[in-house]
Amino acid sequence: MKVIHIGILGLGTVGTGIARLLTENRRLITSRLGAVLHIKRAADLDIQRDRGVGFEKGVLTTDPLAVVNDPEIQIVLEMIGGEKIAKTLILKAIANGKHVVTANKALLAAHGNALFKAASDKGVSIAFEPSVGGCMPIIKTLRESLVGNQILSIKGILNGTCNYILSEITSKGASFEDALASAQANGFAEADPTLDVEGHDTAHKLSILAAIAYGMRINLADIYVEGISRITPLDIEFARQSGYHIKLLAITKRAGGSVEARVHPTMIPFSNPLSNVHGAMNAVTISGDAIGDMMLYGHGAGMMPTASAAISDVIDIARDILTGASPRVPLLSFQRQHIKKIPIRPIEELVTHYYIRFSAMDQPGVLAKIAGILGEYAISIMSVHQIEQKLNGAVPIFMLTHEAEEKKIRSALSRIASLDVITDTPMFIRIEEKNSEFSQP
Ligand code: HSE
Repeated sequence: MKVIHIGILGLGTVGTGIARLLTENRRLITSRLGAVLHIKRAADLDIQRDRGVGFEKGVLTTDPLAVVNDPEIQIVLEMIGGEKIAKTLILKAIANGKHVVTANKALLAAHGNALFKAASDKGVSIAFEPSVGGCMPIIKTLRESLVGNQILSIKGILNGTCNYILSEITSKGASFEDALASAQANGFAEADPTLDVEGHDTAHKLSILAAIAYGMRINLADIYVEGISRITPLDIEFARQSGYHIKLLAITKRAGGSVEARVHPTMIPFSNPLSNVHGAMNAVTISGDAIGDMMLYGHGAGMMPTASAAISDVIDIARDILTGASPRVPLLSFQRQHIKKIPIRPIEELVTHYYIRFSAMDQPGVLAKIAGILGEYAISIMSVHQIEQKLNGAVPIFMLTHEAEEKKIRSALSRIASLDVITDTPMFIRIEEKNSEFSQP
């Protein structure tokens, strides 16, 4: 039977999971592929540790070049993470004519355009299913299953750490710090958890999804990013009582000749299935002009779910190799000459509903002052709520607005913040009222 040799760079959680899955499901995979996937070399700084996977003698090495320079290896799996070394090794593997599978969303977000160009020039694949949404086949869905659709929007919960923290605060009243520590202990937080909490990990993933959805160059720099660190239990509780959950959402929408691409805490009504995705789970909804709406849900991180996505990429490439069709699917979904620079709309141009929380002195006339300034900016209030709970003599006032332009919200809030009756910077959260961009023809 034909053998396809593969090499693994990095035997951390995901790299080990890949070796384990290939070993445990060897027969199954062989019977589906019609060839044997053989781990020829696997590199890691630590090759002494027992990972619970039996490697053949001579497979393990501390030298990553022994993987990317091995003439028999046809597919290299980059599971190191980080930007510098991973990029160098991927470029070396490509130069040596090898196909690459990577889970490295940060690398693709920062250097994807150059890496994909290098791979296309060489006629090899870079596959990246495990880089977004763990086990969910979101890349395959966009690149292949929905190839006949115009993608209208993608909305996703793509960071398990943030979703876990928000869920723990909502359901158990946990503190932010305890919930984050628990996410770290469970192994799904990034090595630097500010990447999770401040929304950057989600933005990395969104930059990849937007590129393959619309045929645009990867553009991380113009994605608006806001994390969850300013969300308080007060916001979560008010949202819940008003029929919303707060989620860190990645949102991209087609918007004429430009696109929206933004990551921020978002209030989502209970009627939206994303509102009910709890714990470390990930989910993504896609609106397309032919499909209407669809949703994927699953483990967005973890050893075996992410390994499953990596193996699906390996098998896709192996099938291409076996049929001589490599690479069958354009790497970024569109033919190279059709990939354009599509501008991302500045966040100031966003028009949506807003939740605003003020911290104000409990005095006559305060509400009138706030409402007066909002009125000057044509911001229409939908509801107002004040609770008795005093914090340093101030009370929280919650508002929901009708649709307003973000530029006006920002200007109005900065004027309100300077009133002497306001005791803290006003907090606002965007609301995603509509569940879908699809309208029935
Ligand atoms: N840190 C990421 C998360 C891991 O929490 O979802 C998967 O990319």
